Amino acid sequence: SPSNLQMGESSMLERANCRAKGGAPGFKVAILGAAGGIGQPLAMLMKMNPLVSVLHLYDVVNSPGVTADISHMDTGAVVRGFLGQKELEAALTGMDLVVIPAGVPRKPGMTRDDLFNINAGIVRTLCEGIAKCCPNALVNLISNPVNSTVPIAAEVFKKAGIYDPKKLLGVTMLDVVRANTFVAEVLGLDPREVDVPVVGGHAGVTILPLLSQVKPPCSFTPEETEFLTKRIQDGGTEVVQAKAGAGSATLSMAYAAVKFADLCLRGLRGDAGIVACAYVDSKVTELPFFASKVRLGRGGAEEVYQLGPLNEYERVGLEKAKQELATSIQKGVSFIKK
Ligand code: NAI
Repeated sequence: SPSNLQMGESSMLERANCRAKGGAPGFKVAILGAAGGIGQPLAMLMKMNPLVSVLHLYDVVNSPGVTADISHMDTGAVVRGFLGQKELEAALTGMDLVVIPAGVPRKPGMTRDDLFNINAGIVRTLCEGIAKCCPNALVNLISNPVNSTVPIAAEVFKKAGIYDPKKLLGVTMLDVVRANTFVAEVLGLDPREVDVPVVGGHAGVTILPLLSQVKPPCSFTPEETEFLTKRIQDGGTEVVQAKAGAGSATLSMAYAAVKFADLCLRGLRGDAGIVACAYVDSKVTELPFFASKVRLGRGGAEEVYQLGPLNEYERVGLEKAKQELATSIQKGVSFIKK
């Protein structure tokens, strides 16, 4: 009968809550924008991560359906759904890690900067919630334009008096994932054996792969360098064009986001030697934000590594990247300060 069903459901929920509260080992993770093209596969992959004990799925539409669906997976994490602004605070309270893929994606002919007007406001609202409800959480920001949304988040956190630069990470892992794949293709290697540092930012010429630092050590002809650099920089546009109006990268992005979030959680757990590229508050260049390798630990990005030796091609690329980054950072900062 319906009443039995209700009783069954509520006692099940109680038990799940108990399991979550009773300190099931693991971290509490929220995904904001969980019903989107990235959000859904990201939620699925996070539910499979044994380091996650509680998974909160927040969106302004469709989160109940995604939550019901994901919650049937027989993995450890307890899943809860949250719908709309009035449930944002409940979604965020107590979280260790907040992953943000909320916002509109590109269509053919658009740059990431064309998304600024809509996504800047979304990121501001979500970060105000984080400042209020889980000011110590690590934040993985995916919403574009990342080069500007990370400075926006930083300004919101500064205004709220809770800014910890180590805890705000712009996700550039998809650029690294693409670089590993494309470089492996040229070298005839398994992509899992390849490590390409990608520095700078996450848009066009600000995406700067350091092909002189690829592991395992190798060398490229000038033509290969040009081809690979362009392909890595335009990887997102390759997907936008192939999807022909249906959005941008979602599946490879969800994969990259989970790869990055997993490294963040291992760092939080206290594992040693966790290193990844991310777009962070930085003193590596004269710019206030820059992507480079960082060491992830209990406090977030505990160490930001220098770029290492660059060749002439990379030095020229770095100057171009810095010029565009400076404008994008300024745009983000003034969005909050104006
Ligand atoms: P989508 O449109 O499929 O999903 C976005 C989701 O955000 C939707 O479910 C929407 O309801 C939700 N949303 C909108 N406003 C919200 C709010 N105020 N609070 C919570 N949720 C809200 O878009 P998709 O493809 O998932 O892309 C999301 C973002 O990720 C875009 O900005 C895109 O440019 C960016 N992106 C970033 C990449 C990176 O490497 N950092 C790579 C690919 C995409």
